[in-house]
Formats: sequence, structure tokens, C-alpha cells
Amino acid sequence: MNSYLEVWTKYAEFSGRASRSEFWIFHLLNLIIVTAIGFVESRAGSPGVIGLLFSLAVLTPSLAVGTRRLQDTGRSGWWQLLVFIPLIGGLVLIVWWAQESAVMPRPGQTQDSGRLSERRQTSGGVPTIKFVNEKVTVEAREGEDIRSVARRNGVQLYSGPHKVVNCMGFGACCSCNIVVKDGTENCSPKGILEKINKWINPLLGLKLLSNPEKDVRLACQTKVHGDVEVETNPPVNWHGDKFWN
Ligand code: FES
Repeated sequence: MNSYLEVWTKYAEFSGRASRSEFWIFHLLNLIIVTAIGFVESRAGSPGVIGLLFSLAVLTPSLAVGTRRLQDTGRSGWWQLLVFIPLIGGLVLIVWWAQESAVMPRPGQTQDSGRLSERRQTSGGVPTIKFVNEKVTVEAREGEDIRSVARRNGVQLYSGPHKVVNCMGFGACCSCNIVVKDGTENCSPKGILEKINKWINPLLGLKLLSNPEKDVRLACQTKVHGDVEVETNPPVNWHGDKFWN
């Protein structure tokens, strides 16, 4: 939901980059909303004015997020003009929009199949994330969520069946839970999904109970604005002093 709202807040922002989840969540939710509006209007015998107004309202942010997504893959937003080539143009765009973010190498840094081959702490205001279990430090974009950074750099956040089945960053499954060991102040505050899941999702509830003094977060809902250290897959500690208290 945060990703969806974020696209609306960047209504006509054509510069910068957009992650895959930001782009696809925006379009998926819009599709659901338009379908729901169409259904209600058809039942009410309405000519479809509300659906039309919503579609018009969504046009500019759709173009903007499409542009930012293409820029995130290292392409110009003007490639969206491909949409005017019937079928083929749309298919090409869908493939590009689904591609991983391009890692932009910095001076002295090499790129190896989309993964940073050099793991180091950087300076110059670029946020870095240290995955302590994996012993790697990678760069993040300002305001990028930890899940996107981990996936781009081949860091596995999920365990067991969640490696295959998860909510892909919607903030629903809680399988991307992590512990922020350092740099809590550089993370976005907990959003509504994390606050609700704390009470209704047993997976997150168990991790919070097991790590009462630690900052347990959902990687997909945690955006970074500076250097942080995180622990992936924090264990459930059934025997912890405070677990049963
Ligand atoms: S991926 Fe499901 S909550 Fe983060």
C-alpha cells in the first residue's frame, strides 16, 4: 500500500527511478479499482463516468511511474512511445518494466551480472546496507526499501517455502522479516501494515516475541535514508527469557 500511495505523491515526477514493486503494485491496484468501479456502475446503470474520471486521473502518474521504471533499468522514458506499435511494442515494454534495477557502477566499482562484485562501505551520502549474516555491504538508493536492495544484490531474505511463495513486497506475508541491528534512525518509521501485522500475523508476532529488545521490521516496508546493518531471517527463540512472559 505504501508503494501505491508513493506513486500518487509523485504524481507528475518523471525524473528518478521506480522499483518493480512500486510500478506493478500501482498498476495491479488500479486494475482492481477500475474493475470494482465498472462493476458497481454497471449494476447501478451508470454510463461509466466515475470509471472514466478515475482512468483520466491515473494517466499522468502511470506515465510518470512508467518513465521512472524504465530509467531504473537504464533506459529512457521515451521508450514508452513503443506502446504505439501494436502488440510487439507493448510486449517489449512489459519485459523491460519487469526487469531488475540496473546497478549503476560508481568509480572504482565493478559490475558483475547485475550484482555488485565489490562489497564495501561507501562515502558521499549514498546509503549502504550491511547484511551481517551474509557479510556483505551494498549500496541502496535514497528511500529504497531493504527488500529491493537485497533482491538486486542476490541476498536471500526468505527461508523455507517463502523462497517461492511470498507476497512480493505487499507487506502481507511478513516472511521478509529482519532485525535492524544498527542505523534504526536511518530507517523509515513503521507503517500501518507493520503495525497491524504485529497483532494479526503469527510469523511477525513470533519474531517480535523472540527478539523483544531488537528492532524487528519487514524488509519490504523499511526504506533506508542512511547506513544500516540488518540481520536476515532472525531466529524464533522459544526458550528466551521473555518469550513466555
Ligand atoms: S514480502 Fe511479504 S511482507 Fe514483505
